[in-house]
Amino acid sequence: MNDSTQTIRPATGMNGSVRLPGDKSISHRYAILAALARGTTRMENYSTAADCASTLRCVEQLGCGVRRDGGSIVIDGRAGALVQPSSPLDCGNSGSTMRMLAGVLAAQPFASEMIGDESLSRRPMRRIVEPLLQMGARVEAGAGDRPPLRITGSKLHAIDYSTPIASAQVKSCVLLAGLHAEGETSVTEPVRTRDHTEIALRAFGVEVERRQNRVSIRGGQSLTGLEAYVPGDISTATFFLCAASIFPGSRLIFDNVLLNPTRALILDIMAGMGLQISFLRVEEQHGELIGTIQVESSPVRGTRISGAATAALIDELPALAALAPYTETGIEIRDARELRVKESDRIAAVSENLRRMGARVEEFEDGLRVAGQQRLHGAELESYGDHRVAMAFSVAALGAEGESQMNGADAVAVSFPEFYPTMESLIER
Ligand code: S3P
Repeated sequence: MNDSTQTIRPATGMNGSVRLPGDKSISHRYAILAALARGTTRMENYSTAADCASTLRCVEQLGCGVRRDGGSIVIDGRAGALVQPSSPLDCGNSGSTMRMLAGVLAAQPFASEMIGDESLSRRPMRRIVEPLLQMGARVEAGAGDRPPLRITGSKLHAIDYSTPIASAQVKSCVLLAGLHAEGETSVTEPVRTRDHTEIALRAFGVEVERRQNRVSIRGGQSLTGLEAYVPGDISTATFFLCAASIFPGSRLIFDNVLLNPTRALILDIMAGMGLQISFLRVEEQHGELIGTIQVESSPVRGTRISGAATAALIDELPALAALAPYTETGIEIRDARELRVKESDRIAAVSENLRRMGARVEEFEDGLRVAGQQRLHGAELESYGDHRVAMAFSVAALGAEGESQMNGADAVAVSFPEFYPTMESLIER
């Protein structure tokens, strides 16, 4: 995954209309719930991400029919009764696949194993193993509580769990286990994280209750397949929002993009920095907000991100950090220790790439501070096998003086295989 190099030439502006592949988080959830549902689920604009293909392969191995029909993915559900896979389930690079499926597999009456690539094999799993054990699950992680995960399905009982980590994957794992547990399971999160699991469960016919940061689900409910359009991925849109912000006078339109409030904080933040954002259309589909937005850029101020905002922007932080030198007052990110256990150590990866481009960066255990109004030069950059690092710095390279090389550029396929041609189609030189 790491042997490709992409050359990035400087640009002078961004202009055009973007239609993005379906949101990665929603695609995973629809595919997993479709597998558990009675009947067929049809998903239009399902994510083209390698991560979401990993989820499809896993549900196929668990006995579901999965097929492509024109622009849609169709899954024949198993009405709650999955089939024991004959080989380990390969989650590839996808933490979402592994952590969410763990909740499902914990209650299935068979043994299974989930494995991942080198990056996923370094990521912490204690955060899901702990609550699953409390529910009576038999789950074993590898050395240091990292993948692989070996799960022997068992009868689960409900728990009332307060998760110490702000993680939608942990919340989702517990809720999915709770769906097949006896009693009512609740998860309380320290700050509110993306709520796609709750929304998708309701769309498939499950009752889920939320009171502030506490979500509850009654076990034994059944799901019914649905027809859905997956809204464009707003985390992917962020790379282009940042590219537009580098070049005042840029204008981009995003069609059918996800506007769920637990994901759209990036729009507020960028509007606060000076990006003009107009909502041309907003509607609701299966509980998710979706719309068309237009952005127009003028010179952007900086910002400081900390506390609950960090959790809400967790996937957008690499792009914001890479934009920081182009802002007027710089960007500081704090309370973001979680960035160190993503697909790469994103604080280290972002700091190193910024330095390679000649920027001054202060790195902290929980974030970084980058001054504004710094001139960057082209450089040899590293993706560290991390899709968001590759995209963030391919964008930063557009504003640098001279060409840059992005090593390991094919990591972009993890969330957005069409990233480079799409970026090229919007660039003005
Ligand atoms: C995701 C949750 C976040 C995010 C990841 C997708 C999800 O991870 O970073 O890209 O779809 O639930 P955490 O739960 O580890 O914060």
